[in-house]
Amino acid sequence: MKTQSSSQELDCHACGIDSQATKVVVSRGNPLSRLMIVGEAPGALEEEVGLPFVGRSGKVLDKLLEEIGLNPAKDVYICNAVKCRPPKNRRPSKTELRVAAPWLEQQIKLVDPWIIVLAGSTAVEAVLGDKKPISSLRGIWLDWNKRCVLPIFHPSYLLRNPSRIKGKPFSLTLEDLLQVRNKLYEFQKVLCHP
Ligand code: URA
Repeated sequence: MKTQSSSQELDCHACGIDSQATKVVVSRGNPLSRLMIVGEAPGALEEEVGLPFVGRSGKVLDKLLEEIGLNPAKDVYICNAVKCRPPKNRRPSKTELRVAAPWLEQQIKLVDPWIIVLAGSTAVEAVLGDKKPISSLRGIWLDWNKRCVLPIFHPSYLLRNPSRIKGKPFSLTLEDLLQVRNKLYEFQKVLCHP
């Protein structure tokens, strides 16, 4: 399948999703940012527009980022574990994750983030190979290939659990993202203005 833009042309039929998907969804945000957010896979709107997280989950994600003072267009690079929309928006299979992994590896190599936020259990499985429930992993920093990695709840889970009461998923995610912002600022202070 080919992407819209010739500068991003891909010709990948490796996992078979492409027989039904219409567009490869690569990324949005700033490729020069040192903060990367990885989600699961594009949904219907993402496929239509050709950008990740532009639907309801993406609105939640952008709102959370803005609440902690980050600009989604300038301060983060956003992508997914899988670049094509799985049929009926199902969770990508183990094989699809494995086959899509080299694309994500390349993105990580090129962007070279200090911090990677894994949104939801599929992103955790794709990057860390860990299949534990996200509720047991979120909020715990990991050192992965010399990068700081933080699993968080997926924004679609927050859509289903919108309560902002302290201790509930929404406010826990806000706390997690505040930690992310603080770490990003620390890195900037130490590495960019030593
Ligand atoms: N959910 C994801 O994980 N990624 C998207 O791009 C949209 C919804």
